[in-house]
Amino acid sequence: MTLHLDGVEYAVNAGESVLDTLLRHGVELPNACRRGVCQACLLRSLDQPPRLADAQRGLRDTLRQQGFFMACQCPAEPELNLASPQSAELFQPALVIHSEALSASVHCIRLQPEQALPHQAGQFLNLRRADGLVRSYSIASVPALEPYIELHVQRRQGGAMSQWLADGLQVGQSIEIAGPNGNCFYLPGRAQQSLLMIATGTGAAPLLGIARSALLSGHAGNIHFYHGSSSEAGFYCRAQLLALAAQHDKVHVHFCISGEAAPAPCESGRALDIALRQHPELSGFRVFLCGAPEMVNSAKKMAYLHGAAMQDIYADPFENRDLRQIARP
Ligand SMILES: Cc1cc2nc3c(=O)[nH]c(=O)nc-3n(C[C@H](O)[C@H](O)[C@H](O)COP(=O)(O)OP(=O)(O)OC[C@H]3O[C@@H](n4cnc5c(N)ncnc54)[C@H](O)[C@@H]3O)c2cc1C
Ligand code: FES
Repeated sequence: MTLHLDGVEYAVNAGESVLDTLLRHGVELPNACRRGVCQACLLRSLDQPPRLADAQRGLRDTLRQQGFFMACQCPAEPELNLASPQSAELFQPALVIHSEALSASVHCIRLQPEQALPHQAGQFLNLRRADGLVRSYSIASVPALEPYIELHVQRRQGGAMSQWLADGLQVGQSIEIAGPNGNCFYLPGRAQQSLLMIATGTGAAPLLGIARSALLSGHAGNIHFYHGSSSEAGFYCRAQLLALAAQHDKVHVHFCISGEAAPAPCESGRALDIALRQHPELSGFRVFLCGAPEMVNSAKKMAYLHGAAMQDIYADPFENRDLRQIARP
């Protein structure tokens, strides 16, 4: 049993994904989450293989129509005939116009794409380093207000991309970007609806952008914003959130500390628990969830169980998996 990529045959083992097969053969295919979220592992099918549906979930229509799919979500079936994307099919260069530490652990980068890139606050971009490393970052800026794309990068210990973005990438340099991806953004309409936003870490970046987009669109309902962290130092955009609440009496911000005693006005406990305690009835709410996958995935279930309609829950788990630790032959 074999599949074909760029005219080369690769033997397939039963039960593995296309990504597994190619990695096992030493093919350097970019990937980050292996859960069908980040879209780093895109390949193109030259024929229409079976069972593409799952492997195309969440992709833009234009990509789907061209046969792109996520290799980590596609069963490696024999006789698949696949092509690696040409760089220009997915990526375009963007100039780094600003780079600044927002706190000891979070860095802000502003990009100016070479060509216009229609996007929404809350969507995410894939950034590709010259060596092919790809990672996803969510958009904090609001296109109608800011003529650049702003990203907030949490430095991960030993993090290949996050540390490089903070320390290695300089203003004036160029980086390749793909996207925008994802459906976690504000859609105008139902302006009286209450919005519940729960973020951990740099999950605050897309939610800050979404809150500002909603206010710009004239959203009149309450916006309840919960930012969770294990320590006070994690509230890297506290001043911005407090300024938003000071300008708009419909905006209510909560800083929730899960790991240590919370000095006032911070609240003690996990952001999700505090939010649900204060809003046990979520029927009619629109819910936005971003950040640590454990929080986002359990908050999604809990929001539904507390009455939010599934189509009113927008969630972006910052899925990750360090594939450099996976043994290859
Ligand atoms: C849709 C989406 C949107 C994202 N948006 C943002 C964003 O706006 N800001 C942001 O900072 N990150 C965001 N991420 C996470 C980001 O893509 C990377 O996973 C992260 O920057 C780590 O990459 P790295 O190369 O530095 O770390 P790696 O070299 O891949 O990993 C280094 C170590 O850090 C751990 N690690 C990596 N990522 C995480 C994580 N997310 N949580 C906990 N541990 C981790 C790994 O397990 C490993 O031990 C997003 C991810 C997704 C899928
Ligand atoms: S979607 Fe395949 S690695 Fe993230």
